[in-house]
Amino acid sequence: MDETRQILLRVEDLSVSFEGKNFVQAVEHVSLEVFTGDRLCIIGETGSGKSILLLAILRLLSPTARVTGSVRYRDQDLFRLTEKQLDAIRGSRISYVPQGSGNGMNPLLRVGFQVAEPLIAHRGMKRKPAEARAVELLRRFHLGREETIARQYPFTYSGGMRQRALIAMGISAGAELLFADEPTKGLDETRVLLTAEAFNALEGQTLVCVTHDLNFARRVSSRVCVMYAANQVEAAPTEELFRKPLHPYTRDMLAAMPENGLRFRPGYAPAHNDADTAGCKYRLRCDRCSEKCRQTPPMFDVGGHQVRCWQYE
Ligand SMILES: Nc1ncnc2c1ncn2[C@@H]1O[C@H](COP(=O)(O)OP(=O)(O)OP(=O)(O)O)[C@@H](O)[C@H]1O
Ligand code: SF4
Ligand SMILES: [Mg+2]
Repeated sequence: MDETRQILLRVEDLSVSFEGKNFVQAVEHVSLEVFTGDRLCIIGETGSGKSILLLAILRLLSPTARVTGSVRYRDQDLFRLTEKQLDAIRGSRISYVPQGSGNGMNPLLRVGFQVAEPLIAHRGMKRKPAEARAVELLRRFHLGREETIARQYPFTYSGGMRQRALIAMGISAGAELLFADEPTKGLDETRVLLTAEAFNALEGQTLVCVTHDLNFARRVSSRVCVMYAANQVEAAPTEELFRKPLHPYTRDMLAAMPENGLRFRPGYAPAHNDADTAGCKYRLRCDRCSEKCRQTPPMFDVGGHQVRCWQYE
């Protein structure tokens, strides 16, 4: 490993539940480390806890969520900081582009100014140079006619354009750690490729990205974390994971890709607290299931490739 890399983010044993009549365990005992320069993609089916994991790390969940575990960003324990201390980090050091944020722009402000705003707020730049920089950033995401559209209001943009403008805004202040949730949702294939290119061209920024798009994940990430039913089930360097997936869920997910023949294994993730599905969460869909799988498997380390499955005990 490159000795100059430093640990930026350490998530330890993070769990999130929503208590009450409809108890939901949204994230269960997730641990991960992110080093400077890493490109981590989090993949997994809908409802597996990907967005809640990001929100919990950034302490953006509502008070109804019960969060346990710890999150360290450099030498700071994010769960012990005051709101004021956190605000000083969010935006300037860590930025976040939420899921479905295409409509999240202020409709009353020109897009160029909104992209420039973090530079003015966090980097003390004057408005004119900040707006010139905003045009450059929009250009990176290939919005087209960037000088002109920077002067336009968000309603003149398509959803995909707004999504990319928000990513430009997310990276504008040069935050060293960028969280992006489904940055390619709703984009056509060409725009997905251009977004991947723009992410790959980011320099000095570390990326944590949630995506459903496995090809996009393969293009932009150096590591992949796979989630299933609130659990992290596999984590590995990207090429290794795509070439040699270990967990049955990851294998089934890759087999269901169109280029791999759309071999889809039916079934859903178990409902929370369902006694039939105690033990491995993938038990009811897995073709390798054995008696042992009635017990919850821990994460096993297979030569730096982590997998939560009894087959690798
Ligand atoms: N405020 C909430 N109260 C109760 N349950 C919630 C709340 N927010 C999310 N959940 C539940 O937590 C689980 C994880 O949700 P999450 O949004 O993280 O899924 P996801 O993996 O991001 O899915 P998608 O790919 O569809 O975005 C889901 O079962 C969801 O219904
Ligand atoms: S632990 Fe058992 S049920 Fe779970 S994925 Fe592995 S083999 Fe399948
Ligand atoms: Mg989500």
